[in-house]
Amino acid sequence: MDAETLQAVSDAWMKHLVVVFPGQRITDQEHVAFTRHFGAPEIFHQTSLHLRSDRVREIFLVSNVDDQDRVMRPSEPSQKQLSSSRMWHTDSSYRPTPSVGSLLHGIEISRTGGITQFINMYMVYDDLPESLRRQVEGRKARHDFGMLARLVGSPPPTPEEQAAMPPVWHPMVRRHPVTGAKSLYISSIYNDAIEGLDDGAAAKLIEELTEFSSQPKYMYRHSWEPDDVLMWDNRCTVHAVTPHDPAERRVMHRTTIVGSEPVLAG
Ligand code: OGA
Ligand code: MN
Repeated sequence: MDAETLQAVSDAWMKHLVVVFPGQRITDQEHVAFTRHFGAPEIFHQTSLHLRSDRVREIFLVSNVDDQDRVMRPSEPSQKQLSSSRMWHTDSSYRPTPSVGSLLHGIEISRTGGITQFINMYMVYDDLPESLRRQVEGRKARHDFGMLARLVGSPPPTPEEQAAMPPVWHPMVRRHPVTGAKSLYISSIYNDAIEGLDDGAAAKLIEELTEFSSQPKYMYRHSWEPDDVLMWDNRCTVHAVTPHDPAERRVMHRTTIVGSEPVLAG
């Protein structure tokens, strides 16, 4: 990719938050190489559930098909954990310098659901009712990878995984380092605490914020075609996938761009 094209893609990404590249018959290596134009690809820290590709370590497997090419049951631990992506979240927000963006390649796509939905969190922040705005301004929320297991009943992180990814606190209102605009920053599958609130009140506030955010007027819904590649900004969007028939194969490969700086308070 030449410098001019890279600039055009970056500009479109900052302006539109989600960019769709249709018809990309790419290998995992090409997927990773393209990702590197925007930052270092994350290597998923959790190895116990085989959500990380053995062949290309930078690839996260959003898939219900196992190594023997068999469709896995929803009760499989990896599938339980992946089911959390039906709830609104932003990727890898549990890291001290959370992800900048993700690129998802639809290899085998769903026709019975599996629509990926995105919310523009700049618009959400701008529209927040005063009662909610008051509760998030200048406040931090905790993001814990271990929350996933508690939420969906997948195996808890091993002691090593827990040690590698201790909970972190991030501002609930953040300023985008490129656009300078403010957005609401929550990730309902990882947020397990809020400064100054007890657990019940924190859970209630995250729920209210998530409900306010997930309105159709802030949403883009992507119905997949094979070999679509979607690139989204994790700093100013949240996403959630709709359910699909679990007997239907769905194979997507994701790269995640590592953040290089702490979240900027808004
Ligand atoms: C993700 C995710 C969405 C989907 O890959 O980060 O949340 O459509 N998945 O499966
Ligand atoms: Mn996700």
